[in-house]
Amino acid sequence: MKSLTVKIPHIDSSSYDIKIKAGLLRDLPQIIEAQLGACRKMIVTDSNVKKSGHTDSLSSCGEIFVIDPPGECNKYMHTIVDILEQMEQTAMGRDSAIIAVGGGTVGDMAGFAASIFKRGVPVVHVPTTTVSQADSSIGGKTGVDSSFSKNAYGAFWHPAAVFIDVETLKTLDQRQFNAGLVESIKHALIADQTYFEYLEDNIDAILDKDNSALEEIALFNSKIKASIVSIDPKEKNQRRILNYGHTIGHAIESASNFELLHGEAVAIGIIGASIIEIELGIGNIQRLERVKKLLSKLSLPLKIPANITKEQIYELLSRDKKSIGGWPKFALIEDIARVHIDADNQWAHRVDPAVVDVAINELMQ
Ligand SMILES: NC(=O)c1ccc[n+]([C@@H]2O[C@H](COP(=O)([O-])OP(=O)(O)OC[C@H]3O[C@@H](n4cnc5c(N)ncnc54)[C@H](O)[C@@H]3O)[C@@H](O)[C@H]2O)c1
Ligand SMILES: [Zn+2]
Repeated sequence: MKSLTVKIPHIDSSSYDIKIKAGLLRDLPQIIEAQLGACRKMIVTDSNVKKSGHTDSLSSCGEIFVIDPPGECNKYMHTIVDILEQMEQTAMGRDSAIIAVGGGTVGDMAGFAASIFKRGVPVVHVPTTTVSQADSSIGGKTGVDSSFSKNAYGAFWHPAAVFIDVETLKTLDQRQFNAGLVESIKHALIADQTYFEYLEDNIDAILDKDNSALEEIALFNSKIKASIVSIDPKEKNQRRILNYGHTIGHAIESASNFELLHGEAVAIGIIGASIIEIELGIGNIQRLERVKKLLSKLSLPLKIPANITKEQIYELLSRDKKSIGGWPKFALIEDIARVHIDADNQWAHRVDPAVVDVAINELMQ
């Protein structure tokens, strides 16, 4: 079993373990019991994850709450209230815990519910998508959407533990699987040359869902995400590098009316960031070509879809939630694993609109 410990300063439970193993779910009831003791547990999942059998081994652990229909369409306050009310109805107390089994939507909602139930109970994440295993289960961001924007309401609530069973990915739809791998490519680009080379060399095994390759990338991802969030848990500066490719990516994702999956839009955004880097003299064509080659192995779109206009992109960029004065900041790299940091030690940068325009034009051709 691969394992590491994440240390988060300034919070009550200052560290948590991430365990990674194919087939881990089968042993989870005993592991969780040993870790959390004999407390009451609420398993929060969604109907696809339950149908795929990923909660079967946990059925003896406690009550279950199934989000149905699954996905972003139910990531609202009403689901949080329903989870909390079911916990109340079954008379769970402060000594209860939530076990989140699912993708990022389940994890974000289960974590948020845990953060406010009886002023906070532990949440254990059992992520089952490439997004949640690489990204959302680590770092403590939880929340739901409002009718106006994504992740509008939420809290930082770090998990008590994260258990990654890469075998769960075998039932994940291939489009979701591939799109989620973009977060892995992002991690490699911002933090680890060896990891990028590993992805280049092993992409076929990863796409074949080979257990040892999936365990390996889960460990790389966990180490990278954990190290960044432990330096900057509340996203004051360094954590912004995790937004690499996301500024243009988010605009494309919204402009597509969420027809594009998050990872698909971020793939285009990563190419956009690479073009901006070339324009600023901190990137080069060879790196851009390597990135494109890896992304194209995942059958991802590498251009902005033809039905999206430049005006839409600019309108959305100006409304980016991290915008200052109507213009967003961009996380950039100078090389693989070398973050662009300015003289004031800032990890996100204002980029001249004319430079961004070059990237947008190239992405629209
Ligand atoms: N908290 C964070 O730091 C953070 C980071 C990134 C993304 N997010 C959030 O995560 C969400 C996206 O997460 P996601 O991409 O995992 O999507 P998701 O949770 O919607 O899952 C995608 C689809 O796959 C299904 N599914 C999940 N696991 C499965 C499995 N093993 N087998 C079969 N089907 C399965 C789900 O039912 C759903 O239909 C967004 O809401 C985003 O805001 C949060
Ligand atoms: Zn992302």
